[in-house]
Amino acid sequence: MNLLSIQGVSRTFTSHKGTQTQALLPVDFEVRENDFVTILGPSGCGKSTMLRIVAGLDFPTTGQVLLDGQAIDGPGADRGMVFQSYTLFPWLTVAQNIRFGLREKGVPEAVQKERSDYFIAKVGLRGFENHFPKQLSGGMQQRTAIARALANDPRILLMDEPFGALDNQTRVVMQELLLGIWEAERKTVMFVTHDIDEAIFMANRVAVFSARPGRIKADIAVNLPHPRHYTVKTSPEFMELKARLTEEIRAEALAAAAH
Ligand SMILES: Nc1ncnc2c1ncn2[C@@H]1O[C@H](COP(=O)(O)OP(=O)(O)OP(=O)(O)O)[C@@H](O)[C@H]1O
Ligand SMILES: [Mg+2]
Repeated sequence: MNLLSIQGVSRTFTSHKGTQTQALLPVDFEVRENDFVTILGPSGCGKSTMLRIVAGLDFPTTGQVLLDGQAIDGPGADRGMVFQSYTLFPWLTVAQNIRFGLREKGVPEAVQKERSDYFIAKVGLRGFENHFPKQLSGGMQQRTAIARALANDPRILLMDEPFGALDNQTRVVMQELLLGIWEAERKTVMFVTHDIDEAIFMANRVAVFSARPGRIKADIAVNLPHPRHYTVKTSPEFMELKARLTEEIRAEALAAAAH
């Protein structure tokens, strides 16, 4: 069975003046267990809207989303979210942020510590357990957010341009970090990005959205072997995928600009 099933999901926003914006055309999309799906598409095509619907933070105008066969009707601990903007609680330390969801669930203190220590080590934040978010760099804040999402052991990780605000070097390091975690844990991931290299490097599937109103116009398999090292980015297979995706995205960006 598919882990996540997006069935005929569309979304039309209506302003208080009655103006309608169709953000998504009906989308059908299946995510299998252990998939790392990246979603590419021009600005404003409905990528965040779709992810927010999967997260249960917004609701579709038509259609439904099933997770493990159950219809999603709101946010839940089975979905871990990481957004572009830093969403840590500023009054909690790194360790407290990571343990927050576990505490809410009433997980015993010893297990909370064990899980937060494990993921703090995974994201390379040992020694920063007692720092507050404002004492961390942007990359470290996003690593904390990823550790927090993973510590809750969600069925799926939903990431909306989580590295979008980072400088290029940090971004590349974060891609390798997340890919390494995925290679070890095989957590199912849906990851929205504008960056074609990023989309190919981490994914086993890239879904390309059309210009608004969004629909999925291509679903492309990435069969590069694992473990992947950054040098894969100069391989002929990578370059070929990149050329193809660049064309797909360019056509949609032009269509979006012509609206
Ligand atoms: N709450 C809202 N109310 C009204 N319109 C909205 C709302 N959220 C999104 N939209 C509209 O829906 C469309 C899709 O927006 P969305 O944020 O999903 O795009 P996106 O693909 O994530 O873009 P970007 O790549 O720039 O982040 C846009 O036209 C946007 O203006
Ligand atoms: Mg967005």
